[in-house]
Amino acid sequence: MLPNYYQFYCPVKILSGQTAVSNIPFEMSVLGCKKAMIVTDKGVAGAGLIDIVKDAFADSDAEIGYIFDEVPQDSSNRIVNKLAQLFSKQGCDCFIAVGGGSAMDTAKGANIVISEGSDDLLKLQGVENITADLKPMIAVPTTAGTGSEVTKAAVIYNEEANAKMAFMSDKLYADVAVIDPRMTMTMPPKITAATGMDALTHAMEAYTCLQKNPVTDVYAKAAIDLIRRYLVRATDNGKDEEARLGMANAALMAGIAFSNSMVGAVHALAHACGGVCHVPHGIANGIMLPWVLDFNLDMIPEYIAELSGVLGGSIEYLEPADQAQVTVSLVRNLLERLNKISGLPTRLRDAGVSEDMLPKIAEAAVNDGAHVYNPKELTYDIALKLYKKAF
Ligand SMILES: NC(=O)c1ccc[n+]([C@@H]2O[C@H](COP(=O)([O-])OP(=O)(O)OC[C@H]3O[C@@H](n4cnc5c(N)ncnc54)[C@H](O)[C@@H]3O)[C@@H](O)[C@H]2O)c1
Ligand SMILES: [Fe+2]
Repeated sequence: MLPNYYQFYCPVKILSGQTAVSNIPFEMSVLGCKKAMIVTDKGVAGAGLIDIVKDAFADSDAEIGYIFDEVPQDSSNRIVNKLAQLFSKQGCDCFIAVGGGSAMDTAKGANIVISEGSDDLLKLQGVENITADLKPMIAVPTTAGTGSEVTKAAVIYNEEANAKMAFMSDKLYADVAVIDPRMTMTMPPKITAATGMDALTHAMEAYTCLQKNPVTDVYAKAAIDLIRRYLVRATDNGKDEEARLGMANAALMAGIAFSNSMVGAVHALAHACGGVCHVPHGIANGIMLPWVLDFNLDMIPEYIAELSGVLGGSIEYLEPADQAQVTVSLVRNLLERLNKISGLPTRLRDAGVSEDMLPKIAEAAVNDGAHVYNPKELTYDIALKLYKKAF
């Protein structure tokens, strides 16, 4: 059924392909910028990926003002404020985020602080609370998962509150997304699998949540198709360039989809696991995805059923509820395969969560805004039940 009304927006210029990174200085000149602040983390820098970016600047008038490599696994308000101060002190005029969601969201967070002239991020969290235009940003994803390079979202960990703050604003789109398979080839198998499950969750929640629309459906299905073809391959052989490029494009398209349709209960449950127990985002999403599909199944059997073909299932003219069960099974099979080849956890107990923490995590999940768009209401009792099943 088509919605009575919907909006769709994605203003990001996309560069995709081998050597796309070499176009960064040109893109800076188009944006009127000369001195970039590179935002990354130690893992990405240690994998030699900043050298690829540096090489691109060899014969260019544009320069790298500073390389900030202190981004932690989950971007935090303390780091964001430190980065914002350095940006101004070094006289930089744009951000180049080189990393996964943590680096990209840290750059977005610092950009909010600089442009809004306030380090009180708590006040600016939520939907469309950012009013200032942000500094230009070029995003170079090195994981294929969050899609942050094309989303209006940033997620930043609040150290004082021990919770994740979510920001949604049209101001948060990067200007350019640079998809270069060289940047994801060094990703270890378990991170490839986990971030790929984040992308799959974005696409599946985009396709099944309340704010879905015909345009996000197209991006979501195209992303799922690429994930079916390439996630296991990229996890199994990181040097498979075709698979890396396929997964990077899948994450990007899933990002475009969910940035417009929003996500659902899987993300609320995963954010809570991340906030309370520091379970990596993609791992938590992967574990919770089949349980939430199963929970939503009686409300939207057709939508879930429609994804079974894209995931590689045979279409056997089953009733929608039965065909939807096929979809859930295919997701479980994928998780099991990824577990075998990369050690990706498939249960919360294997991901650093203890059973006595479940009530606390369930409380955090209910307070997370992501489930507002879930087709069924997520109450405390249901969240706890889903966590117990996934434990
Ligand atoms: N803004 C959004 O739209 C959005 C969407 C979903 C998730 N997120 C956020 O993104 C964060 C997670 O991001 P992520 O899953 O991309 O992981 P990440 O950025 O935290 O990176 C995970 C680990 O992988 C390493 N790594 C990354 N790329 C590598 C490479 N090519 N080679 C070697 N090592 C590499 C990093 O050093 C790091 O240790 C969470 O904070 C989550 O809340 C944001
Ligand atoms: Fe996500």
